[in-house]
Amino acid sequence: MSGWTLGIETTAHTLSFGLVDAEGVPYPAASDTLRPDEGGIHPREAADHHKDVAKALFEQSLEQQNLTPADISAVAYSQGPGLGPCLRVGAAIARGLATRMNVPLIGVNHCVAHIEIGRQQCGCDDPVLLYVSGGNTQVIARLNGRYRVLGETLDIGIGNMLDKFARAQGIPFPGGPVIEQKARAYLDANPNPSMEGLQLPYAVRGMDLAFSGLMTAAQRLIEQGASLEAVCWSLQEHAFASCVEVAERAMAHTGKAELLLGGGVACNQRLRTMCEEMAKDRDGQSFAPPRMYCIDNGTMIALLGFIELRHRTTPLSESGIDQYLRTDQTPIAWS
Ligand code: ATP
Ligand code: FE2
Repeated sequence: MSGWTLGIETTAHTLSFGLVDAEGVPYPAASDTLRPDEGGIHPREAADHHKDVAKALFEQSLEQQNLTPADISAVAYSQGPGLGPCLRVGAAIARGLATRMNVPLIGVNHCVAHIEIGRQQCGCDDPVLLYVSGGNTQVIARLNGRYRVLGETLDIGIGNMLDKFARAQGIPFPGGPVIEQKARAYLDANPNPSMEGLQLPYAVRGMDLAFSGLMTAAQRLIEQGASLEAVCWSLQEHAFASCVEVAERAMAHTGKAELLLGGGVACNQRLRTMCEEMAKDRDGQSFAPPRMYCIDNGTMIALLGFIELRHRTTPLSESGIDQYLRTDQTPIAWS
């Protein structure tokens, strides 16, 4: 079967090849994430990792669907935002494959891809989006042909904050899932928990958020002798409550009744539950895509490429990357 669109994701630590078929139906991606033994990720090391595993991972993505390169009729890639060296590797692979296979090339906006895979998977129409990943924390709504950022973090992304706090406690990257487990363990042991002695600074400023003060204060609680499980629980409650508060305000301002989660932190069950409760209180509904489509994945890039190819392609002369590409820079030419 021909007519498949290949999507290549390389904005940060994950290299991922994903596919949608000729009707735009998505299939699980083949992904590989660099997990440094210690410290944060170095962009150049991540880029080298992506180069090293690209060939095998591309072949695996085709084998998973019993395809050959001849079945690919377009190549989409993340053009930004992200880490420069990583993005450049993805763009180079995309250019190479599109040229060799003689098919159209399309560079897409990574943040918009998180949104479109969520809309497609959840079947929601016109949601407010809570996009929570390592590098990004944004509340977004579609207004006048763009995804507008209504509020966002003023310092670090929420996932980044969780990963940094975790690393300081000796928990390797990615820390978010481990913090979730520890918070749940604390709740299992303390079914009626109290915030007494575990309060953290609440970081909502109008429609914007901030997380670095929260992280420092959480670390201080540990230094003062609070248990790691207790602090993980408190950290999640405070960080997620601030996101839910801004999302609720965005729903009120825009009059939209749907909330859609996206980005790696949207894997978190506690965040999903808090969003569901808030939306229900407003007679609305909260949606979250399957976890494999919350974290960075090539399939969402393939899907957005498939959608946008009806309107445009990317000539080689314009296929350079944009580290700082903004969610609202991409015109939304589709419904
Ligand atoms: P972006 O380029 O969009 O910022 P990213 O490079 O951060 O994306 P993602 O895969 O979208 O990559 O998100 C990874 C983040 O998600 C990490 O910070 C990780 O700790 C966090 N994360 C993953 N699972 C969970 C979870 N269950 N709870 C909380 N955080 C999680
Ligand atoms: Fe992402």
